[in-house]
Amino acid sequence: MNMALSPVGEEKFADTPFRDDVLEGLRREQKCLPCKYLYDETGSRLFEQICELDDYYVTRTEAGIFGQYLVEMARYIGPGAAIIEPGAGNCEKVRPLLAQLQEPAAYIPIDISPEILLAAKAEIEQQLPGLSVEAAIGDFTRGDCWPTTAAFPCARRVIFFPGSTIGNFDPQQARALLCSFRSRLEPGDGLLIGTDLVKDSVILERAYHDSAHVTERFNKNLLVRINRELDANFDLALFAHRSFYHTLRQRVEMHLVSLRAQAVNIAGQRIAFREGETIHTENSHKYSLAGFSDLLRDAGFSPLTHWSDAKQHYAIHYAQAD
Ligand code: AVI
Repeated sequence: MNMALSPVGEEKFADTPFRDDVLEGLRREQKCLPCKYLYDETGSRLFEQICELDDYYVTRTEAGIFGQYLVEMARYIGPGAAIIEPGAGNCEKVRPLLAQLQEPAAYIPIDISPEILLAAKAEIEQQLPGLSVEAAIGDFTRGDCWPTTAAFPCARRVIFFPGSTIGNFDPQQARALLCSFRSRLEPGDGLLIGTDLVKDSVILERAYHDSAHVTERFNKNLLVRINRELDANFDLALFAHRSFYHTLRQRVEMHLVSLRAQAVNIAGQRIAFREGETIHTENSHKYSLAGFSDLLRDAGFSPLTHWSDAKQHYAIHYAQAD
């Protein structure tokens, strides 16, 4: 790139995907930012705190279902399986499952953060000696970091995708992601996946607007990150956290609302906000059991079973590749 032709102040941010995504998103009619940028170091720590909140039922409900049905899940997966976990992070959730499986062939966690992944690999190897753990570093939404199906001889490959992460993808993206999962599998292989379920909007809205204001800090941290990394001057006091359940779209939307007309400088560019205008920062889709089964079928899977909690707030599905 020819620096001499760049607008003043823009050079040091040129061509970074974060800069491009932020400026592109904030120039749209409905301003928006990709939710993956919520997870810098502070954002990841705040998300861990969210998972501990009473108001955020998702994590503990999923953990309760795993605790109750682990033996059955292991039976569906069967002996000699290789477990592949896209976006594994610290690999916490999979450990009880790995311990329950009969002679698992391998565990292949995929994550963008090498430090966390390699630390987790070392811990798992210590906890489960004999299990082959092959960490794959990279963005699981892109193809290049996935192992080929021939790489790990096993009775069956099973993709493990807990945490309701699929809910943060729009329906078309979710379908595309499930199709890409399917393309990594052979007929008869499996998918064990968690989804948050449609429920009373009061429960949903409390989960994303918690009384301890952790979600508010999580949402606003995106502005802190833009200030730090893109030399921006967002005034946090002039933006408010808003989240609400959109009944028709079956999703919780998270926004940052501009409390007055203002302009913000970001990477040498000026972005104007009207009073009340919002930046859409995240969608969290909620599924019905039937709706998610349809999505699975559409992506080339046969839903075999699901496990849920007594209140039907959350479900873990086991599906087989067609
Ligand atoms: C990571 N993901 C499943 C969370 C969710 O519930 O959609 C992210 C989150 N956003 C606000 N609170 C939690």
